[in-house]
Amino acid sequence: MEASATTILTPDVTGTQGRNVTSVEKPAIILVPWDPDSPDHVERMRLQRVACGWKQDGAESWRPLQREGKIGLHWIVLAPAHPDTAPRLAAHKAQFPSETTPLRDTSRSILGRPHAVHPDIAAAENNFVPVGHISLDGWHADPSLHTSAADGVYSLTTFYVSQAMQGVGIGGAAVAECERMAVDDFGAKTMTLDTISNEDVAVDSPRRIALNRPIQKVTNQDWYMRRGYKAYQRRPNSWFDTDATGKEWWCTAVCLRKGLV
Ligand SMILES: CC(C)(COP(=O)(O)OP(=O)(O)OC[C@H]1O[C@@H](n2cnc3c(N)ncnc32)[C@H](O)[C@@H]1OP(=O)(O)O)[C@@H](O)C(=O)NCCC(=O)NCCS
Repeated sequence: MEASATTILTPDVTGTQGRNVTSVEKPAIILVPWDPDSPDHVERMRLQRVACGWKQDGAESWRPLQREGKIGLHWIVLAPAHPDTAPRLAAHKAQFPSETTPLRDTSRSILGRPHAVHPDIAAAENNFVPVGHISLDGWHADPSLHTSAADGVYSLTTFYVSQAMQGVGIGGAAVAECERMAVDDFGAKTMTLDTISNEDVAVDSPRRIALNRPIQKVTNQDWYMRRGYKAYQRRPNSWFDTDATGKEWWCTAVCLRKGLV
């Protein structure tokens, strides 16, 4: 990955060089591939999925998909040169003491291509402490996302930013970097994803109330729509969560897409 690719914070409504991806302002994050053959990477992913609360046991099933280059699960790493990195990393380590040991960048390939260690990670002797993760996938089991590397349709999945620094732009920078990588490195034309629908997280949603979920400042669906994603399909009964009484609450997912070029 090129150093210039890692730095995106401010949306550019005019597009960048004719592309519908966000512009580069200053380095915030670096994406480092998750190594499916490293027990340390697998265990850290398990810890972060537990902290996230969804797909807590997913890591085992992602290992072969990552090896085969079908999915591109990446760690979100704070860029060493960014002025806010030190305090943000300190806050993450304080809140998640089991996540303080650095991992090593040991992946050999990602999405079917050889992986080159980022110069800033190499300067730290290949060590890094991830503060989240995001997957850029060229394959997905659910046909409603239309994911197909051959057709230039990639999908964002498995996305989490440390609760020690949500709302400061890290997630937006990670999505923007995935969009840039998809276009520049893999010739993508379209990005798709799915997320919980606005109705199921609304203030008066019986599901939200029964599951005791907090009222979000910005819903996941709106978060993506503010970044240029448009809803194209609703998917009722996508998954369920169980409330304290044992009742299952199914949710409606919404599929969103964004043209990248
Ligand atoms: C969704 C998530 C990945 C976003 O990452 P993030 O780093 O918090 O996002 P950013 O800081 O880049 O986004 C800032 C936006 O969130 C809003 N925001 C404000 N406070 C926030 C808070 N406490 N938490 C999250 N977002 C907040 C801001 O208003 C801002 O909106 P705008 O940029 O559209 O005006 C992250 O909140 C997360 O990991 N959530 C739990 C897991 C999850 O929901 N994953 C996505 C599944 S589809």
